[in-house]
Amino acid sequence: MTSDITITTSGGAQVLRIDRAAKKNALTGAMYTALADALEAGDAAPDVAAHVILGSGGVFSAGNDIVDFLAAAQTGGTVGLAAERFVRLLPKVRKPLIAGVDGLAVGVGATLLLHCDLVYASPAARLSMPFLDLGLVPEAGSSLLLVERMGYARAFEMLVLGETFDAERAREAGLVNKVVAAEDLDRTALAAAQRLAAKPPEALAIARRLMRGDGAALEARMNEEFLAFRKRLGSPEAKEAFQAFLEKRAPVFKRG
Ligand code: COA
Repeated sequence: MTSDITITTSGGAQVLRIDRAAKKNALTGAMYTALADALEAGDAAPDVAAHVILGSGGVFSAGNDIVDFLAAAQTGGTVGLAAERFVRLLPKVRKPLIAGVDGLAVGVGATLLLHCDLVYASPAARLSMPFLDLGLVPEAGSSLLLVERMGYARAFEMLVLGETFDAERAREAGLVNKVVAAEDLDRTALAAAQRLAAKPPEALAIARRLMRGDGAALEARMNEEFLAFRKRLGSPEAKEAFQAFLEKRAPVFKRG
């Protein structure tokens, strides 16, 4: 149990709110577990038609907690089991996923959006996937899904150059459905869930499955990503990047 994720149900929507504003909504093991438990429970609940993921305090999520990354790096480089469970669940969630993104969406806070059916963003939304700068590699299927979504050129800018996409650029690139004023964000996401709640549920589930395919290629890519990610977590480059972040200094990477 964690108070950093709050879960409510309203008008056919299960709302998962990330609520750890003091740490920019960075995700800990307990938060991944709460999110995954809620997604599984919501999928099984007859009164839930869709899941809505929201941030708080003007931030969506700063991604995986870097303190946890450093701990994993120092204890043999294993990625958290809770994080892995959450990421592997994302493509298997049976009901539509809707996100409302205000402010920063970093790392898994941005890659999880690739698994959403509808993404709404405020003009202040800033999406980035700085895995490489942390000595890591893309995760959550982003090495496949981002290239499919926006083409290699723009995906390279995000995943390798580590460029931040603002709301409008993310919309142009196909990551965001619509940019709406921050004060309308929650309402817009909830209204979309309500529209989905009025659809014939079986037809909706089948349409969604057809559009997503059987997921075999995605699962295979996620396996490859996890393998590489685990190795990278224990690398000197990653340790230096995590330490530098926590010490609020620029990292120094050794060449050769
Ligand atoms: N993990 C752990 N703590 C984090 C965090 C993360 N991913 N992101 C932010 N925090 C913490 C900061 O350490 C800081 O803690 P402190 O107040 O105890 O010093 C607090 O949240 C506020 O963050 P701060 O960096 O001061 O805010 P900012 O507005 O200047 O910058 C970010 C916000 C998100 C741009 C910056 O915090 C950042 O780059 N975070 C890391 C993002 C990241 O690389 N995530 C992993 C991707 S794989």
